[in-house]
Order: sequence, then structure tokens, then C-alpha cells
Amino acid sequence: MRRTAFISLVILAVTASVAKAQNSSNTWYDDKYSMFIHFGLYSALGGVWEGNEIHRGYSEQIQSHAGIYSDVYEKVADTFDPVNFNADEIVALAKRAGMRSVVITSKHHDGFCMFKTETTDFNSYDSTPSHRDYMMEMSEACRRGGVKFGMYFSLVDWHYPGASNITSHNANPIPEVHHQLNLAQVKELVTRYGDVSELWFDMGSLSPQQSRELYNLVHEYQPSCMVSGRLGNGYYDFAVMSDNYYPEATLQTPWQSCASMFDETWGYRSWQVRGSSHDKAQEKLRSLIRVASGGGNFLLNIGPMDDGAVVPFEAAVLEEIGKWLDRNGEAIYGTTQSPFRSRFAWGGVTRKSNVLYLILSGKRPSSGEITLPVKDNKLLKAEGPAKVKLQKDALSVKFDADAYTGDIKVVKLTFKRPVLPAESKQTNTRITKNSYCCQDYYTNYRSDVSYTWNTHSTRKLAGVCFTYTATDVDKQVEVTLDGKPYAYTLHKDAPKSIMQARVAESNRYVCHTRKSTFDADAHDLFSPSVSPDGDKEAKWQSVALDHQTVEARPFQTVYVMETVTSPCEQEVIMEVGAGNGVELYVNGYSVMKHLNPYRCAYRMEKVRVNLRPGDNQIVLRAYNRHERNIEWHLKVSDDQNIYSTPVYLPDFRKSSSHTVTIRQADEDSQHKDCELYNLRMIF
Ligand code: GLC
Repeated sequence: MRRTAFISLVILAVTASVAKAQNSSNTWYDDKYSMFIHFGLYSALGGVWEGNEIHRGYSEQIQSHAGIYSDVYEKVADTFDPVNFNADEIVALAKRAGMRSVVITSKHHDGFCMFKTETTDFNSYDSTPSHRDYMMEMSEACRRGGVKFGMYFSLVDWHYPGASNITSHNANPIPEVHHQLNLAQVKELVTRYGDVSELWFDMGSLSPQQSRELYNLVHEYQPSCMVSGRLGNGYYDFAVMSDNYYPEATLQTPWQSCASMFDETWGYRSWQVRGSSHDKAQEKLRSLIRVASGGGNFLLNIGPMDDGAVVPFEAAVLEEIGKWLDRNGEAIYGTTQSPFRSRFAWGGVTRKSNVLYLILSGKRPSSGEITLPVKDNKLLKAEGPAKVKLQKDALSVKFDADAYTGDIKVVKLTFKRPVLPAESKQTNTRITKNSYCCQDYYTNYRSDVSYTWNTHSTRKLAGVCFTYTATDVDKQVEVTLDGKPYAYTLHKDAPKSIMQARVAESNRYVCHTRKSTFDADAHDLFSPSVSPDGDKEAKWQSVALDHQTVEARPFQTVYVMETVTSPCEQEVIMEVGAGNGVELYVNGYSVMKHLNPYRCAYRMEKVRVNLRPGDNQIVLRAYNRHERNIEWHLKVSDDQNIYSTPVYLPDFRKSSSHTVTIRQADEDSQHKDCELYNLRMIF
């Protein structure tokens, strides 16, 4: 007889953790589009050193990529006199471009501070002939122009003696003495230049405590400032994607994609081949539309020249986008993400209350029409180059002949009620809430922060039941029933084996990549003849092991692949072990992914996987940040037991609709993966 452990209910203090960017007082979320500026000592070199074009790496990192000694690089400051840097002109350009804020580099990896600082003479005020504080000039110009002011700050520093040395990845752990320098410089930045709308931390690989201290320091002096995800360890107000990267899926956290005019550089490059500014404008406008359709903000970069003037090509690109926004900005500013979870080849979709904007930035459908799922609604008005009808649950849109000629056009549709995401109406299916977990530049990924079920039960239900593996026993979870949270502990109740039939393991391979990021999500089967992560040097080798410890380098991944042959469709438990980060694929799909506790050397866990009849491909990704070894483990577990805990939900009523959400309690970040993929909720 299963022990009925009706867990005592603890109604948790409801913590009103509203995402900062989406509450009414902060318009960051509505701004959608801002100017990034990479301007520093590196601009004076324009990607050239000793007469040679430096084609390796970003031009703002020329000191590293041209191998310039610090004492030699310092001398560049002696003649750094960008007489044509005019902050008011840049703010005027930002406004013509439709950009709502400016985020300018205060200090880049080279350690040169573009502001007067007491912490080092290696700054634009004390070490250059013009004695200028560019943060002061830009913050005052922004205030005069009515544009918000933000700053980029690099957490690595190639000049400061107490910092780590230059690495190929710029995501070094930060020595404590360097952290103290960062705290001192950031305190100057958040106390001397008025309101700061955004602090865009970059690179480094901080400890949770270091991230927390910088996050708290910024908000102590700038409560409304939005802190970027690259601060690390989940201490952020908006997630930041990798450079020039756009998330494939919808994120339920404020997020931003940052883009340079050309992928190869953020800082000025005198020998850049630029081509047509119109083509570039159309390219970046489509990026803006794609980001806004996903509910994100778009930060587009300019790199002022050695004399401080804006590159005419870049100004032309911004002004062309600005003209489109003058006519169509309503479809971008103040909108939220598309209610349709998939991206469309024909264009983007944004939403503002009960209005949908179809932005025709893609390719005209060969049929000339599209159909969108819209339920329980009424179309009140359609404006733009299309004939639109709402019949029952389908919105049919027939595009006019010229809908895709010339300028990118917008179809504006006004409905009786907001068009909400389809899954918000799904019942008895698991709806995942995704956030974005940022640990450092290479280690960020879309995390599952909670699971929700909209139930419509007909049976008399006193409660629900969880089932899970031994790994999940003693986890503290929070179940929210129609908004009311309850705390539970997953107990080691009477075990029940789930394996219906024996399986066979075979064809095991291992592959060590050189450097990879954690965010890659495979949706195809791996092949022993194809190097993963596009790393041609990484070869699969056949192994007969199910556990191994190998030497590792920073940001390296070890892949382990095996075939599990099952006589039937069944669920089995795999043993999965890794260090800093772990991911498990079943037949090409990622079924589990999370980072282990900070600097975790190894952790083994039991994961439930669904097998189809015949061969199944199981792949483990063991991801390393800064450990010297990677220890991995992959095999079908000998322990095929699951455990269960019936839980009593007092307000659960027969034949009524409920919304049940579950997440792992006591999470110190709202962005961490809940690690509850083994949990099955049985209503
Ligand atoms: C990367 C580069 C840095 C650049 C930044 C912009 O972190 O290392 O040079 O400033 O991207 O996003």
C-alpha cells in the first residue's frame, strides 16, 4: 500500500518578482531599438597596425590580435585626439534613426577608460592631449536630446596588472583584486553621469558573488538601470544573445540581440569593404523586425572613425531605417512578441493589445496568401495591402499584387480581443516557460524555468501525483494552483520499476571539440562521420566505456553517443554524468539541459527518456567552462525505479478548469533551469 504522503501545505509568501523591464515605470521593454557605439583607443588604429591590415578578430580587439605589447599600445593614447567626435551630432543621428537610447563603450577589453577615473591614468582625460571625458559628453548630449544614456563596460582588462592575461576567449575568471577595480570603476560610472538606462557588461567569467555584487552596486545607485545578461550567473535584467545572434524560440524574459554593421567587427575598420548602404539598411531592418517579432530589443552598433566622426555609410544605413520607422514605427515600438510560436518565411508579427501587425519583411508566399490560427475572436478592421477574413478559427490573408514590392509593408489588423498564444488555451499538455540563463559569453542557453498545465478535469480530483527518479528525491518544488503557491518536498515514496523490456546498448563513440558554446540546440541526429559544432578537427572515436575522465580546456565539450535498442516503445532511466554543464539528446532532440552548480566538477543524475522500438540515438554533451578535466558518464541505469508523491491541492475542484504551474523552489535566479524534466504530473 503506497504511503499516502499528503504533504503539509505551506502557502509561500507570494514574491511579486515582476520582470523589471516589463513594469510600467521602465519603458526599456517598449523602446525596442537602440544605438550601440564602439569608440575607444582602438578606433584610432582602424584595424591597422604598423601599416598592416589586421584581419584576425574584431578590430576593437586589435591589441590582442596584432600582438601589441601593453606599453606600446599605451603610446597610442599620446596622439588620440578625435576632434570630430561630436556627441550632439551622434544623438541627433540616433533620433533620426528612431533609436531610443545610446549605449557607448566606457571601457573595452584594452582597459582604456573613456572617462575620467581615479582608478588609473590610462584614461581619455589624463592620458590624451584633449583631456576629454566621453561619458560626460555623451550623457549630457543624451539629456539635451531626450535620448536615454547607457554604457558598455568590459569585465576583462588587458592593461590592469591585477587582471588575468589576454586569452583567446576573453571569458577568464576575474581575480578578486580585479573585481575590486571593476567595482570602483562601475561605481564612478553609476554616480557621475546622471541616469543610466542600461549597463552592458561584457565578457569575463565571474563567480556568482562577483556578479551579485556588481548587480547590486548598479541598482543601489541606478534602481531603473537595466543590467545586461553578460554580467553572468543569472544576475541580469535582460538576457543578451551572442554577437549577431537571434534566438530561435520565444523567451519569456526581457532580451536583446546586439548586432554590428558587419559581423567581423564592432570597432572602426578603415579598410572595411562596405558595399551598398541600402542593402545593409534592408538587412538590419529585417533583423530589427525579427527581434521585435520575438519580443526582444535590438541594439545596432556604429564604430566612429579615428577622428571621432561617424562613418558616412553607417549614418546612411541608420537614416534609411529611421525613415521606415517614421512610417511604420507603430508596428515596432511598444509591441510585444508574436502570439504565433513559429517564425514565418513571409515576415514578422508583432502585437499591441488587440492589434496584430503583419510585417511583410520576408518572401511573398507562392500562393499569395497565408492562414493564421486565431480562435474565439472577431476581426474589426484590416488596413494594408491584403484582403483579410476571419472564418471560425482561421485568419485568411490574401496579399495584394504589390504587397511585396518596394518598401517593407505592414498589414494592421484590429480584433475584438487580444490574439493570445495558442498554447495558452491548450489543456492537459505541458507548457514550458523559457528564460535565458547567462553565465558568460559562451555559456548561455534557453532554460526551462517552469512547467504549466491548463487542466480541465472531469474526475473528482482531490489532488495530483508527481512521479520522478531517485535524482529528484528531496527536491523542494513550488506548485502554484490558479496563482496560489504551495511548497512540496518530493519524497522517496514506494519505488516502482518502469522498464517493460530489456534494452541493448551499442555503437558508442566519443568526440572532444575544441571550443563550443552551450546554447547550440541540435534538432538532427548526430553522425559518427560528422564533426559536431562545426569543429572540423573534432573526430568521433569508438569507445567501449560508459565513464571516463579526460583533460579539458576552457569552453570545451565532450560528446558521447550510443545506440540503445529497444524491443518496444518504452520509458527507461539513463544515468547521465557531467561537470559544469550537461545536455542529453534523444534521437536528435534535446530532452534535458542545464548548468550544474558553479565550478561543479562532476554530478551524475538519472534521466527518464522515451525510447521508440528499434534503435535510439542517445547523445550526452558534457560541457566545460574552467575545470581541468571533464568527467562523463552515460549508460542505461540499473535502477529503473521511479517514485511518486500524491499531493493534495485543497482548491482543486471537480470538472473545473485550473492552471497548475511547477518550478523548483529556492532558486536564486528566476532564469535558472528548473531541472524538473523527470517530473510527470498525473491529474
Ligand atoms: C564581444 C567582443 C567585444 C564586443 C562585444 C559586442 O564580446 O569580444 O569586442 O565589444 O562582443 O557585443
